[in-house]
Amino acid sequence: MIVVAVIGGGKIGEAVGRSIAKSDKVSRVIITRRNLTKSRTALTHPLAGEDHQKKIEFTTDNKHAASKSDLVIIAVKAGDAKQVLEEISKSCRDKIVISLMAAIAIKRLENALPEAKIVRAMPNIAAVIGEAITAYSLGHNLTKQDEDEVKFVLGSFGDSIEVQEPLMDAVTGLSGSGPGYIAVLIEAMVSAGLKVGLPRDVAFKLVTKTLTGTADLLENSKVHPAELRDTVTTPAGTTIAGIYELEKGSFRTSIMNAVEAATLAAEKVAKKFDSES
Ligand SMILES: NC(=O)c1ccc[n+]([C@@H]2O[C@H](COP(=O)([O-])OP(=O)(O)OC[C@H]3O[C@@H](n4cnc5c(N)ncnc54)[C@H](OP(=O)(O)O)[C@@H]3O)[C@@H](O)[C@H]2O)c1
Repeated sequence: MIVVAVIGGGKIGEAVGRSIAKSDKVSRVIITRRNLTKSRTALTHPLAGEDHQKKIEFTTDNKHAASKSDLVIIAVKAGDAKQVLEEISKSCRDKIVISLMAAIAIKRLENALPEAKIVRAMPNIAAVIGEAITAYSLGHNLTKQDEDEVKFVLGSFGDSIEVQEPLMDAVTGLSGSGPGYIAVLIEAMVSAGLKVGLPRDVAFKLVTKTLTGTADLLENSKVHPAELRDTVTTPAGTTIAGIYELEKGSFRTSIMNAVEAATLAAEKVAKKFDSES
C-alpha cells in the first residue's frame, strides 16, 4: 500500500487525486491547495462521497504532504512551481515525483529536486471520470520497477502512453487542451441540432453518443478515419452535403491551427519559466 501526495488540488489535481484514492494499492491520498475553503471544481466528481474517498486528506501543508507520502504528484500552475519545488525539495529524496505541469522541462525539475526520480506527464480533464489519456516522459534515474509504479498511478485515472520529452508541448496542445476543443465541437453540434428542430436534450444525447461511438469504433476496428468517412458518404447523399460545408468552412485547417497555436503557447510558457529560473 502506498501514500500519494498531490501538490495543487485544483481542477486536474483533485481529479487525479480522487481517482487514485479508488485504488486498493493506495492507503491515503494527501491533496494540498492554498485555500481549503475555495469551492471545488465545477465538474461533479462521480466518485465523491464513496467509501474510498475517506482516504483523502486535504491540507495546505506541502512539506507535510510530500514527507508523509511515497510518491508525489505536482499539479500547480507553472507560475507557482518555483515556490512549491523549494518547499518540497528535501522531502522528495528517492521518491517518484510526477509533474503534471505544462511546459516545465524534466531537467528543470531534476535541478530543483536533485534527489527525486522525475516524471513529466500531461493528462487531460477526463481524469475526473478515470478516462484521461496521459502522455509521459521519464527522467534519467528511474528503474523498471519505478516505471511500473508510474504506469499504475497514471492508469488509475485513464490510459497512458510514453513519448519523448520534446513532444510534450505538442501533447499539451493536442490532448491536454483537447477536451476544450471537443466541448466546442459538441456545443456547435447541439446548436446545429436545435437549428434543425431537435429538442436540446435529444440533440445532446445524439451528439455525445455519436462522438464516443465513433471514437470507440475507430479505436477498436483500427479502420482509418478516411475509410470510415468514405463508408458513410454515399453519392449525392446527406453526409457529403454536410462534409462539403465543413470543408468550405476550413474545418480541418481551423483544427490544425488551434492545436498549433496551443502548442506554441505551451512553448512560450516553457521559455518564460526557463528565463526566470
Ligand atoms: N486543467 C487541465 O485540464 C490540465 C490538464 C493537464 C495538465 N494541467 C496542468 O496542471 C496544472 C494545474 O492546472 P489546473 O487547471 O488544475 O489549475 P488550477 O485549477 O488553478 O489548480 C492549481 C491548484 O494549485 C494550487 N496551488 C497553487 N499554489 C500552491 C501552493 N503554493 N501550494 C499548494 N497548492 C497550490 C491552487 O490552490 P488554490 O486554488 O487554493 O489557490 C489550485 O488548487 C497546470 O500546470 C496545468 O498546465 C492541467
